[in-house]
Amino acid sequence: MNESNESPVYGENGELVKVGSDLKHIAFIMDGNGRWAKMRGKRRDYGHTEGAKAFERIVEYCGKIGIRVMTVYAFSTENWKRPKEEVDKIMLLLEKYLDKLLAKVSQYDIKVKFIGDKIPLSEKLKKKIALAEKETKNKGRLLNIALNYGSRAEITEAVNKLIKRGIGRVTEKDISDALYTAGEPDPDLIIRTAGEQRLSNFLMWQAAYSEFYFTDVLWPDMTDKDVEKAINNYYKRTRRYGGLA
Ligand code: IPE
Ligand code: IPE
Ligand code: MG
Repeated sequence: MNESNESPVYGENGELVKVGSDLKHIAFIMDGNGRWAKMRGKRRDYGHTEGAKAFERIVEYCGKIGIRVMTVYAFSTENWKRPKEEVDKIMLLLEKYLDKLLAKVSQYDIKVKFIGDKIPLSEKLKKKIALAEKETKNKGRLLNIALNYGSRAEITEAVNKLIKRGIGRVTEKDISDALYTAGEPDPDLIIRTAGEQRLSNFLMWQAAYSEFYFTDVLWPDMTDKDVEKAINNYYKRTRRYGGLA
């Protein structure tokens, strides 16, 4: 069979074993950590700690089922409005994840890439990001971590880059190629947890023809089965891209 039109593979009990070639990129808006903690009478921090575990679980599952590109929204350009302790906690959890990835780099087939403006990040985190990106650059599947990411900032920056280059007129391709995600397939499926049905400044350009899936599950509770359910739902849809089915 031609690699470019592989179908999904299911196991004996109907479980998803491998996705097809029409599902290359899944993006996650990991939402609901705060509510998850609050429901348990705990501080929001605790929700982020549990959210980080869910993140690792879902990264592993997406690898297992053959997702080639995964993007997670970890921190938006607007999330600086939160209390400093909460921001510090999120940054610390990311550092810990990078430490783990770097310590076991040979065991993971993950090429990590941070999308977003790195300038305001701490020097320590910036160094770890640079090292992790370097150490994993030849790995197979791509994990984009959107950190201090905002779609409007990304598009504005892309246009400024093109102006600086002296371009007189821009094409859609010029813009796509100037985004953080240059050369990557657009997300086929965008999953948002915790019941909110909005993009919150995430991948607005890239999401032009993405399928959306919203679930009430709070991010720390997200399991393989929940992702499988979203994918099964994705496979029931017809993507027309403006044409006819
Ligand atoms: C995690 O969920 C997403 C981040 C911004 C890190 P939230 O922290 O937004 O959780 P809720 O929406 O307040 O429940
Ligand atoms: C979006 O979630 C950002 C991330 C998941 C990192 P928010 O919780 O910040 O979004 P809003 O404020 O509900 O739109
Ligand atoms: Mg939220």
